[in-house]
Amino acid sequence: MPTLSAPTPTATTDALDTTVAALAPDFALRLVAWQRQHGRHALPWQQTRDPYRVWLSEIMLQQTQVTTVLGYYQRFLARFPTVRTLADAHLDEVLAMWQGLGYYSRARNLHRCAQAVRDQHGGEFPRTAAQLAELSGIGRSTAAAIASFCFDERVAILDGNVKRVLGRLLAFDGDLASSAQEKRLWRHAETLLPAAGADMPSYTQGLMDLGASLCATRSPQCLLCPVQGLCEAQRRGVAEQFPIKTRKLKRSRREQWWLWLEHEGRIWLEQRPATGVWAGLWSLPLFDDEAQLLAQAQALAATAPEPLPRVDHALTHFDWVLHPRRLVLERRAEPGPGAWVARDDLARYALPAPLKKLLG
Ligand code: ADE
Repeated sequence: MPTLSAPTPTATTDALDTTVAALAPDFALRLVAWQRQHGRHALPWQQTRDPYRVWLSEIMLQQTQVTTVLGYYQRFLARFPTVRTLADAHLDEVLAMWQGLGYYSRARNLHRCAQAVRDQHGGEFPRTAAQLAELSGIGRSTAAAIASFCFDERVAILDGNVKRVLGRLLAFDGDLASSAQEKRLWRHAETLLPAAGADMPSYTQGLMDLGASLCATRSPQCLLCPVQGLCEAQRRGVAEQFPIKTRKLKRSRREQWWLWLEHEGRIWLEQRPATGVWAGLWSLPLFDDEAQLLAQAQALAATAPEPLPRVDHALTHFDWVLHPRRLVLERRAEPGPGAWVARDDLARYALPAPLKKLLG
């Protein structure tokens, strides 16, 4: 049984090690058996061991729910059936296919990664987690998921859901806001891996499936859980108290003004810089205060812009309040680098979701 003695954060071994090693064989056996009987098997990325397809699904699933990913995944593959077609495409087109999925750095990394596979790996994904993790946008857990699904590598995953499953299984007392404690949990995840020759795809998928179903953040269904009795947090009746993570995301608020310029049915769009929020997407010009926007508007027309209802957009780190101001120009002008885009052509530009909604 795990003890609650304070761990040494930098230690390479700790009081849990013996317990974890003892749990491992039973845990893996139960998890694999449960996954085969109760886990998910019909998802499209489970019907293949092609690392391109598995990689694409894992990237899409990082911050997006399965139900949303399904449609995007099929459309993306219809347009980019191989890693080479993706590598050869223009980034703008990749971003346009990603439109609505959010977290656009994923799409830029996806493109960069496809080009590295084409240029540095002869068009074939590398076959080990260590090599996969060298590629853009592929972190340790994603690399391990691809390597275990496609190449049966005996390697641990540890995404947010799996941290919860293992944090509860071990009643892991470290604060996962600390990187030393996260490292410690990685080590335990490695100890828990099934013996060589085990069904790694079912084991990895089992961890994901358990985290996405019975071992939910709130009201976990411990009575139905395959590792009931092995799970220390369940034995103590305190599953919801794990994992421990103290750092709260500090959310800030950003307020900006959006200038919607229109001339003869065309809308003025500017491409966002290559880094930061909405990097590479096309947007209306943004201003940090209303006076700046009005100065720009005055330089273009004699009439004042019309205020439209504010748009609230929540991002990971801040709540964004956008105030759209619409101005129809009599005379065409070019306020800077950008493009006058006809409404019918808007679909060809990667627009942030709230802008797409605003422009209707
Ligand atoms: N989330 C991340 N990877 C997944 C997978 N392979 N299946 C379902 N959900 C996932």
